[in-house]
Amino acid sequence: MRTAVLASLALGFVPTVYSAVNDTYVAALSKALSSAGLTQLAAVAAKVNSTTLGQELLAALPTGQFAVFAPNDDAFKGVPANVSSNVTALAEILSYHILPGNFAAAAAMSPSVTIGRTMLNDSSLVMLEGGKSQVLVWTSTNGTTSVLGQSNITVGESMPYENLTLHVITGVLVPPAPLVDVLTSNNLTAALGVVGSVSGLPQTLASTHGYTLFAPTDAAVMASQDTLKSIMSNQTLLLSVLQNHVINGTSAYSPILMQGHNYTTAAGEPLTTTFNSSGAYVMSGTAMAKIVRTDILASNGVVHVIDAVLADLESNAGAASSAYMSASSAATVASTQTGPLGASAIATAASSGKKNSAGMAVHFQPAALVLALAVGFGAVVLV
Ligand SMILES: *[C@@H]1O[C@H](CO)[C@@H](O)[C@H](O)[C@H]1NC(C)=O
Ligand SMILES: *[C@@H]1O[C@H](CO)[C@@H](O)[C@H](O)[C@H]1NC(C)=O
Ligand SMILES: *[C@@H]1O[C@H](CO)[C@@H](O)[C@H](O)[C@H]1NC(C)=O
Ligand SMILES: *[C@@H]1O[C@H](CO)[C@@H](O)[C@H](O)[C@H]1NC(C)=O
Ligand SMILES: *[C@@H]1O[C@H](CO)[C@@H](O)[C@H](O)[C@H]1NC(C)=O
Ligand SMILES: *[C@@H]1O[C@H](CO)[C@@H](O)[C@H](O)[C@H]1NC(C)=O
Ligand SMILES: *[C@@H]1O[C@H](CO)[C@@H](O)[C@H](O)[C@H]1NC(C)=O
Ligand SMILES: *[C@@H]1O[C@H](CO)[C@@H](O)[C@H](O)[C@H]1NC(C)=O
Ligand SMILES: *[C@@H]1O[C@H](CO)[C@@H](O)[C@H](O)[C@H]1NC(C)=O
Ligand SMILES: *[C@@H]1O[C@H](CO)[C@@H](O)[C@H](O)[C@H]1NC(C)=O
Ligand SMILES: *[C@@H]1O[C@H](CO)[C@@H](O)[C@H](O)[C@H]1NC(C)=O
Ligand SMILES: *[C@@H]1O[C@H](CO)[C@@H](O)[C@H](O)[C@H]1NC(C)=O
Repeated sequence: MRTAVLASLALGFVPTVYSAVNDTYVAALSKALSSAGLTQLAAVAAKVNSTTLGQELLAALPTGQFAVFAPNDDAFKGVPANVSSNVTALAEILSYHILPGNFAAAAAMSPSVTIGRTMLNDSSLVMLEGGKSQVLVWTSTNGTTSVLGQSNITVGESMPYENLTLHVITGVLVPPAPLVDVLTSNNLTAALGVVGSVSGLPQTLASTHGYTLFAPTDAAVMASQDTLKSIMSNQTLLLSVLQNHVINGTSAYSPILMQGHNYTTAAGEPLTTTFNSSGAYVMSGTAMAKIVRTDILASNGVVHVIDAVLADLESNAGAASSAYMSASSAATVASTQTGPLGASAIATAASSGKKNSAGMAVHFQPAALVLALAVGFGAVVLV
């Protein structure tokens, strides 16, 4: 299809109408990429023009502001042959490198994470609430910006090209994997084991569109063996405990979570997040744990790692169901998501000095914010 006219780019974006691919624009962009040493990316852009998705992406670029994470030539050496020879797969992967909005100043938010919504929305690769596109997470430590959850991909030079900002990266981004793979590759196998011991729960999580999972470390699961053993024989209780680690229907990334929100768990219990100078915490009922790593992306949700099992045995089916309903209706309300997620809320909170859910004053002094958010990165130890 030559003319890609879209009513809206994706739920959550500003409605935009794209016209056909502008060959003059693409030729000039291709030339600019090549002269910046990004010859492989230029070649990929030309290749994907033979697919509908590729044409939609190329048609979109001149219509607004976009950040493009631009893999350098070496990066493409790591792409498997079955992908580099498959234009459909290349177009899908390219869509994960393009973010509507202006991220030129994103590095100023470091060392906390910056999260942006990409154009990757293929339903075989992304199953988020409201059909939202997948996000990308990056962070700066010691002057190096790297993409979280990707193997050793750093962000180098950034350069503007008309209304694009090109951020040169050292690898080709891989879209987030299904939850089971994500837990396994992040050493959360004990948590995965407990989830697997509840009949039907792995399937339920796999088919849920959008969730936040607070996953205890292996050590935390080991430390809770006695508690877990005592309820292991009662699947109802075990399910409640596990569901109290889940927000159903909402992918709550750290910049949003850290503002001190009240949620309801998949078991119907209140869940709150708080932070102070010693770190960020999550509470389910009266159980509490420290958040030790944030924003591990899965194809259909997000995982934050905690240092203890939330031993909350309570449940309230009615509250769970109504929380899910309101999460679902909120997810379909189109919003203008074209910049760092949660950034405007952080700025607003900073100027109003609002209180968090526990009623503690949230001191959005840069140092306190940095400290609280930095605990999310396993590598950063500030205390
Ligand atoms: C997914 O993104 C493509 C390309 O931007 C767009 O054409 C399509 O409408 C989007 N699909 C949904 C369901 O939002
Ligand atoms: C993209 O594909 C269309 C349709 O095949 C073609 O007309 C156009 O010239 C191509 N543009 C570029 C930049 O390759
Ligand atoms: C196509 O792109 C060129 C170069 O950016 C621009 O000058 C021209 O106005 C565009 N044409 C259309 C139809 O938008
Ligand atoms: C390009 O960016 C400029 C400056 O931000 C803006 O005024 C203009 O509307 C943008 N053009 C498009 C097509 O979005
Ligand atoms: C490429 O091969 C790998 C491993 O065999 C497989 O997991 C992947 O789905 C393939 N990708 C495509 C686009 O065919
Ligand atoms: C090409 O990639 C697409 C999307 O990943 C996949 O569905 C398709 O099977 C692949 N084609 C081949 C021939 O591997
Ligand atoms: C950052 O630099 C400090 C001081 O040089 C060092 O101790 C720390 O390990 C570095 N952090 C990372 C993630 O490289
Ligand atoms: C990460 O990538 C850089 C080059 O981009 C390389 O020099 C370095 O050795 C890599 N580190 C690891 C741990 O693979
Ligand atoms: C998982 O644990 C192994 C062994 O302790 C360690 O080498 C690896 O870095 C860990 N991986 C992650 C993602 O934490
Ligand atoms: C989320 O709620 C829906 C509707 O009540 C339910 O079908 C689904 O199983 C729930 N998912 C999780 C992970 O609890
Ligand atoms: C499991 O626990 C629930 C809630 O405490 C209780 O109502 C139920 O009777 C228990 N089931 C068994 C088989 O013990
Ligand atoms: C969270 O709930 C508590 C207790 O109900 C309330 O005091 C607080 O204002 C709520 N916080 C937010 C951010 O809604």
